[in-house]
Amino acid sequence: MATPDSTQPPESILIVDFGSQVTQLIARRVREAGVYSEIVPFNAAEAAVERMKPKGIILSGSPASVPAEGSPRAPQAVFDSGVPILGICYGQQVMTHQLGGEVRPGHETGEGGEFGRAFLTVTKQCSLFDGLWNVGDRHQVWMSHGDKVTKFADGFEIVATSDGAPFAIIADEARQYYGVQFHPEVVHTLDGAKLIANFVTKVAKCSGDWTMAEFRATKIAEIRAQVGDQRVLCGLSGGVDSAVAAVLIHEAIGEQLTCVFVDHGLLRMNERQQVETLFRDHYNIPLVVVDAEARFMAGLEGVTDPEKKRKFIGAEFINVFEEEAKKIGGADFLAQGTLYPDVIESVSFTGGPSVTIKSHHNVGGLPERMNMKLVEPLRELFKDEVRLLGKELGLPDVFVGRHPFPGPGLAIRIPGEVNKERCDILRKADAIYLEEIRNAGLYDEIWQAFAVLLPVKTVGVMGDSRTYDSVCALRAVTSTDGMTADIYPFEAAFLSRCSTRIINEVQGINRVVYDYTSKPPGTIEWE
Ligand code: XMP
Repeated sequence: MATPDSTQPPESILIVDFGSQVTQLIARRVREAGVYSEIVPFNAAEAAVERMKPKGIILSGSPASVPAEGSPRAPQAVFDSGVPILGICYGQQVMTHQLGGEVRPGHETGEGGEFGRAFLTVTKQCSLFDGLWNVGDRHQVWMSHGDKVTKFADGFEIVATSDGAPFAIIADEARQYYGVQFHPEVVHTLDGAKLIANFVTKVAKCSGDWTMAEFRATKIAEIRAQVGDQRVLCGLSGGVDSAVAAVLIHEAIGEQLTCVFVDHGLLRMNERQQVETLFRDHYNIPLVVVDAEARFMAGLEGVTDPEKKRKFIGAEFINVFEEEAKKIGGADFLAQGTLYPDVIESVSFTGGPSVTIKSHHNVGGLPERMNMKLVEPLRELFKDEVRLLGKELGLPDVFVGRHPFPGPGLAIRIPGEVNKERCDILRKADAIYLEEIRNAGLYDEIWQAFAVLLPVKTVGVMGDSRTYDSVCALRAVTSTDGMTADIYPFEAAFLSRCSTRIINEVQGINRVVYDYTSKPPGTIEWE
């Protein structure tokens, strides 16, 4: 493969975000079509047009209302760029408004809004439908709008209508501007992904050949250019993201990378050995393993408040990491497995910051404290794309497919005080549960499954004796991003098997319960 020129932006689609809940899904659909995409807030879109030189632009939906004073607009640079534009919902309306058409609030038109499933009829052929839809077809789409376009701008015509939105799809074929009132990015618009793929490949003429192999080669060139002959430190958590980042960086700069793995005693069964085997034996990546169990357990003594636990673990992790970094002579860069959902700037129309439910553990604060620059090669990727990259880099499937594991580890799965004994009990129960899930072939269907050790003792009877031991809760959820989650519906026989094994094999547990709480209202972790 030719060495990619890292100064040349990849063939891309720019997504201008007006704050819709589902903007990320647009990016996913574009990438599924084999094209690189970036989401940028509307007020940063002008610079992005200049930097990315996109082949097409998509304007997202929004909770805002175009006729309302102060509602956001697309920068003129979007329309001056000369590339095809697809406006979705608010994107359609704002484009119409800015190009001279009219948008009116639902309450003024007397028709109200349109929410949920709707059917549109194709009235005219257009390039957006090429090879997909024909005149007269009816298609299910997903609507969610109060306002609507009442007069389109010069050059546009209607190409599809629905009962509630006479302007369901409008098109200006000369300028290659398209506006859809519904949301093609959500799965309930049955042909939505194909419609977006058509826009990206047929209208915007992207080649659709963005692959992980290409990404890997581009990133390696970028890492080499960024790091030069300087040194990089990477904190491994045992999770997929930091592992993939480390392997990629090692491929780029070899021995200039050192990985540090802090064993805080809050890891799952055999986790430390798995990381050591993978990095030392499989990849031959320089690895420092720090045995910090004793100091973490000492610091956690008497701490029962979840936030205090989280804060202590985060701070102590940084202390340990910094000490180790000094021992090996420091480094110029810190590598992190930051993902795209963490870096998308959210567009807020309400002003204030959102409520902190839990303070997440990461190495934030470390780069400034140690005066290090950051290398974050996964910043543009979604979680499932990181898994694909991991496979591309040759990481074993069992590692790449691992369930996410939180930075504070088992500490937030032991409500109340944490100590080594309770960690050991939980590790055993958790390992049995996960083994049963793997044996049943269910591991990959589940987003996260784990055991929780409750600070509650109950009475039981085993043999002819009375027991008075802890309760263990089992949790398993499905999710796509960890933001919302559903309970995994195990069969009763499976849960009975896990319960019997845990009670029989783990001393200290005499009762097992299953957590039947979705998120919301629960969170995935117990603390
Ligand atoms: P919650 O419990 O907030 O978890 O529903 C959502 C997802 O985030 C993971 N999680 C963390 N990940 N550091 C992490 O890296 C943390 O401090 C942390 N807390 C929760 C959790 O496992 C789930 O996947």
